[in-house]
Amino acid sequence: MADHQNEIETFGSNDDFWIFGYGSLIWKPPPHYDQRIPGYIEGYVRRFWQASEDHRGTPEAPGRVVTLIDKAHWETLTDTHASTERVWGAAYHIPASKVQEVRQYLDIREINGYSIQFTPFHPAISTSEVTSPPHDSEPTEAEAGMRAGIKATNTIAVREEAGSVRCLVYIGLPENPQFLGAQDPGALARKILESKGPSGENKEYLYNLETALLGLSYNSGDAHVSDLVRRCKALEKEAGIGSDHEDGGAEGLYRVGSTEEQEEVEK
Ligand code: BEZ
Repeated sequence: MADHQNEIETFGSNDDFWIFGYGSLIWKPPPHYDQRIPGYIEGYVRRFWQASEDHRGTPEAPGRVVTLIDKAHWETLTDTHASTERVWGAAYHIPASKVQEVRQYLDIREINGYSIQFTPFHPAISTSEVTSPPHDSEPTEAEAGMRAGIKATNTIAVREEAGSVRCLVYIGLPENPQFLGAQDPGALARKILESKGPSGENKEYLYNLETALLGLSYNSGDAHVSDLVRRCKALEKEAGIGSDHEDGGAEGLYRVGSTEEQEEVEK
């Protein structure tokens, strides 16, 4: 615990770091990253159990976004959906020269009920599949380290893990006021369909998340997310509303050049 606290206190010094995205960060990267790697973390469960008053809803009518629940805590709760062993997402490397700027940017997010934790991240791609931003030149020290930790295999192009990397992750802890606890999936789907906020429709966040997750690896889907998508689609069909949600995911990954350019970020 003391070590964990120490890690948090020293975060923001000038060392480079990795941040794990499991929500909108998957398709809306943080500014200034120089490496993006798909992979997963363990020991958590991803759920649409966090109220969003600032991005996909309003204070009067909050939407729903994802948070991570510690697996041990989740096991004490009653949930309709089963847990998965892994939470898939993408890790971003922030180089030392941009740490202060990105740290300030991330602090903005933290205000809205999310707290920092550190956890091992398991990369799940081959060295040739590491995505670099367009201006990338030589591999950074961190990338070289990450690549060195990934064992080669000739059986499948996209494969699972080898080494792990310490990653920062934002968690909406159960104590925070936006944490809603277990939700009925039918009611959750209806809430997502009816909500919208400054960042757009809540359903777009859900659909983009599913598309982005499925684009990460061959087994990177999330049954909780896909069940909500199915429910929302069925409700939309009933209401005669078509939907076209192909704008997210790895193909739709967009990047910006600076913290200023980046719209204020959602979870
Ligand atoms: C994300 O993974 O997209 C995220 C989650 C919580 C806070 C900020 C970002």
